[in-house]
Amino acid sequence: MARIPPGFIEDLLTRIDIVEVIDKRVQLKKHGREFAACCPFHNEKTPSFYVSPAKQFYHCFGCGAHGTAIGFLMEYEHMEFPDAVRELASIAGVEVPEERGTPDTASSNAPLYEVLDKAARFYREQLKQASVAIDYLKQRGLTGEIAQQFGIGYAPAGWDNLLRQFDGKEETNRKLLAAGMLIRKDDGRYHDRFRERVMFPIRDNRGRIIAFGGRVLKKEEPKYLNSPETPLFHKGRELYGLYEARQALRNISRLMVVEGYMDVVALHQHGVRYAVATLGTATTADHLQRLFRVAPEVVFCFDGDRAGRSAAWRALENALPEAREGRHIKFLFLPEGEDPDTLIRKEGPAAFEARIKDALPLSRFLCDSLAAQTELGSAEGRARLVELARPYLNRVPAGVFHDLLKDEIARLAQVNSGNLTMLNRTGGASTAMPASRGDPRPQLTSPVRKAIAMLLHRPQLAALAGVPGALDGVALKGVEILRSLVEFAQSHPHINGAGLLEHWRDTETGATLMKLAQAELITPPEALESEFAAVMADLTGRRPAERRRDELIAESRRRALNPAEKAELSRLLAVQNSSDDGITEPKSD
Ligand code: UTP
Ligand code: MN
Repeated sequence: MARIPPGFIEDLLTRIDIVEVIDKRVQLKKHGREFAACCPFHNEKTPSFYVSPAKQFYHCFGCGAHGTAIGFLMEYEHMEFPDAVRELASIAGVEVPEERGTPDTASSNAPLYEVLDKAARFYREQLKQASVAIDYLKQRGLTGEIAQQFGIGYAPAGWDNLLRQFDGKEETNRKLLAAGMLIRKDDGRYHDRFRERVMFPIRDNRGRIIAFGGRVLKKEEPKYLNSPETPLFHKGRELYGLYEARQALRNISRLMVVEGYMDVVALHQHGVRYAVATLGTATTADHLQRLFRVAPEVVFCFDGDRAGRSAAWRALENALPEAREGRHIKFLFLPEGEDPDTLIRKEGPAAFEARIKDALPLSRFLCDSLAAQTELGSAEGRARLVELARPYLNRVPAGVFHDLLKDEIARLAQVNSGNLTMLNRTGGASTAMPASRGDPRPQLTSPVRKAIAMLLHRPQLAALAGVPGALDGVALKGVEILRSLVEFAQSHPHINGAGLLEHWRDTETGATLMKLAQAELITPPEALESEFAAVMADLTGRRPAERRRDELIAESRRRALNPAEKAELSRLLAVQNSSDDGITEPKSD
């Protein structure tokens, strides 16, 4: 990739959450102010892998693995640095700016976007000339306007209509194949994947076409054919219509998840522009994180039949780890035989939206469904409810919502939730920090180390560091690092700890910062400011102490120090005790 302009990565790291990035790959459990899991980088049975939301940093007490979200992707997904940055940028919904003049050579995906874009144009052109397809869409109630907004097209009958739009070179065909548009036969020849289908382009966050869904016109199987998984398209994370919803609405307070392409298009056409669809898959945690990044309320919409109920239950199971206060998850069941497409055409948007108001909150859906499986009239039945509820409750992260849900189940079971040990998440296992087995974390023995560690926690503390030059003349080793950290953080008021770490990636300073980022800060968040101010005051006010130290050292070269002087010197030296990162040794003179 071309050089990324300065500031972009630091900024990007404030837009994403390392907890989300890691939790998607390694399920995390809340642990005090951090999140914990069994380490993905070494084999272990008890969790020593911790992720800090404050620092946007992970570290493992067992094997010492550590880093930012970028580092995690590089290690865990074996990504190169630029790819890790791109991945995070796509999560944040921003584009990685490439500095001018250098082509984006490393982005092997660029040609895939190109062929997909050209294919979409071809399909749109074909739709204009295909009266069968136009009639079909009209008969289903679509306006030309909505078809255009969604870029709907038509792949005509025949084996090579798309293929012939390109130059026929093997290199080009390989791109089309990689983009999922062709099928390669055993004899090495290619043909179009999509034939005689209405084509729905699937767009990513940024509006680029990454895949297609194609629907047959007549009764045929499969009814919908989707692009296969490609480097651009991962079914389990894309949401059809999300880009269009974001285009149509400024502030999205609610997203509704439906099942089908036609449902999304019909809902948008009738003014429900916050409808999106998963692509023939169950809703994943990945989906939910994307949804909640856009809106605080997500309504799942299902058919009222058995299949709909069981799909809803699967969505509920996947949603539990994402449930927390501030996120509203609801379930809407439609009358049997209806889907959103048919229903909104029948009853109009007002009646449809009235249904959403009556949708079941996740807690209600969960409790009702569990209660329906037991006899709440008997003690045995109520005990069984507790048993049934436990695995579900355990999937909900600790927090206010978890507690409320627990209370609700306790209420149904008619037990006191405070005494409801059966509902405890851990089933008796200790939630204490892992036993220290030669805790490899560096200790914050010097004020310089402490100040740096605090800045990595909360770079905004730099504002309290005093005037530029406040640290001049302070002779402690490491003070240079502290000074540059303070300056950089002051000029980047929104940066977070991960941003600082990435700014100094692959430098000596960076290595020191990485180490100190792993130190445990015992200062509680609310006391960070006063503590930082105190440490800085200590540092900048320590010049007399340093002079005294140097005096004593000089004196000791001339004569033997008396016991009082020795004690004083060792005390002065101890403040700057040496250690492995080399930042606390007294400056050699
Ligand atoms: P449905 O069969 O419920 O279709 O599939 P629908 O959306 O109501 O379609 P219309 O109204 O008959 O056109 C719901 C979704 O499941 C996926 C598609 O994403 C579809 O929109 N699906 C369905 C497939 O991927 N393949 C299929 O063969 C069928
Ligand atoms: Mn339908």
